[in-house]
Amino acid sequence: MEMGYDSCYKDEVILITGGAGAIGRNLSEKIAASGTKKVIILDNMTSSYEWNIPNKKNILFINGDICNEDDLKRVFREKPTYIFHLAAFFANQRSVEYPVQCDVVNSIGTIKLLEYANISSCVKRFVYTNSEGGAYGNDLALPYSENKISLKLGSPYYISKLSAEMYCNYYYEYFRLPIVTLRLFNSYGPGEVPGQYRNVIPNFIYWALNNQPLPLTGVGKMMRDFVYIDDTVEGIIRAGSYQEAIGESINITSGNGIDIRNLASIVNKVTGNTAGVLQYDKRKWDTRLEITGDGTKAFQLLHFQPKTEFERGIEKTVQWFKNNWKNICTSSDFKPGMSTAVTGYMPNKVK
Ligand SMILES: NC(=O)c1ccc[n+]([C@@H]2O[C@H](COP(=O)([O-])OP(=O)(O)OC[C@H]3O[C@@H](n4cnc5c(N)ncnc54)[C@H](O)[C@@H]3O)[C@@H](O)[C@H]2O)c1
Repeated sequence: MEMGYDSCYKDEVILITGGAGAIGRNLSEKIAASGTKKVIILDNMTSSYEWNIPNKKNILFINGDICNEDDLKRVFREKPTYIFHLAAFFANQRSVEYPVQCDVVNSIGTIKLLEYANISSCVKRFVYTNSEGGAYGNDLALPYSENKISLKLGSPYYISKLSAEMYCNYYYEYFRLPIVTLRLFNSYGPGEVPGQYRNVIPNFIYWALNNQPLPLTGVGKMMRDFVYIDDTVEGIIRAGSYQEAIGESINITSGNGIDIRNLASIVNKVTGNTAGVLQYDKRKWDTRLEITGDGTKAFQLLHFQPKTEFERGIEKTVQWFKNNWKNICTSSDFKPGMSTAVTGYMPNKVK
C-alpha cells in the first residue's frame, strides 16, 4: 500500500453505518487506527453482535436505525465528514421472505441518509457499498465490468441495492454530493458470524467445525468471486480517499472464480472435516452459474489490487472461528445443517 493513501482520515469524524456488521466491524477497526478523531458506528444490531464490535477509544457505537430520524439527527450532530454506508437488510433469501422490509432499509434508508448527508454540508466523501448482484445479471458477459448493468436482477435484495445506487447517482449529479459507489463481490473472512441468512463461507466453516457435511446447492460448477476481508476493507478505504473515484461505480473483485465444490473441499481440508458434502437442489433466486468481476477500473482509479491468496484467507478465517468459537455458537441462530440455503429441500445425493 503506498504511503499516505489513508491520511485524509486523520483528525476527521467518520460515520460507518452498519459498522457492527461483518465488513463494517473490520472497516471501523482499520479506520479508527488511522489517526481519526472519531469513528461513529450507527447500527441497529439486526444482524450483528455486541461481542463483535471493535473496542477502541475513538469508536462511538450508537445503537440506532438509518430509517429513524431521531437516530440520524443524533449522528449528524457529530458532523461526520466521511460516510461509509454499509447498513443493509442482508441478504437474498431473507429479502425473498421479507421484500418490503428489505426495500425500506436498503432503498428508503439510503435516501434518508443521503438527505442528511446533503443537508449537513460538511461531507467530503460518501461511499456506498452496492453488491455485484445489485448491478449484474445473467444477460451480461463475464467478467462483469462497470459499464453495463442488468435490469433483470435475481432478488429483492439486489433490486433494492441497485435502487440505492441510482439514488446515489442522483445525489451526485443533482447536488454534487461527493459519492463513490463500490460494487462488492463476495467478501469473506474474520468477523462474519455464520447464520441462517449469511454467506456460504462462514456457514461452511461452521458446519465443518461441527463435523457436518457441507450442503452444495445446484448442479454443476457454480463459480463465485471471493475477496478476503482485508482486501475488501482496503478497497473501501481507498474509495474514500481518491479524488478520481467521485461519481464513479467501481468493482471490488478478486477477478478469480472459485468453484463452490472446490471451496467445500478447501474448507473440509483446513478444518479437518471428514463428513464430505451433500448435494441439494438449487435455490430459485440463485440463477447465475458463474460470477467473476473485472478489476481494471479499481486498479486505475484506486490503485487497488487484492493480495490475499484464497486458501490462506480460509485458514485465517478458520483460526478466527476457533478463537471466537463460544461466542459464535451462542450467536448463530441455526442448527448445523440448517439454513435457508437448504430449507425445504431434501438432499438428492450423498457424496
Ligand atoms: N458480505 C458480502 O459479501 C457483501 C457483498 C456485496 C455487498 N455487500 C454490502 O456490504 C455491506 C456490508 O455487508 P456485510 O456483509 O457486512 O453485512 P452485515 O449484515 O454483516 O452488516 C450490515 C449491518 O447493518 C446493520 N443494519 C441492518 N439494518 C439496519 C438499519 N436499518 N439501521 C442501521 N443498521 C442496520 C446490521 O445490524 C449489520 O450489522 C452491505 O451494504 C452489503 O449489502 C456485502
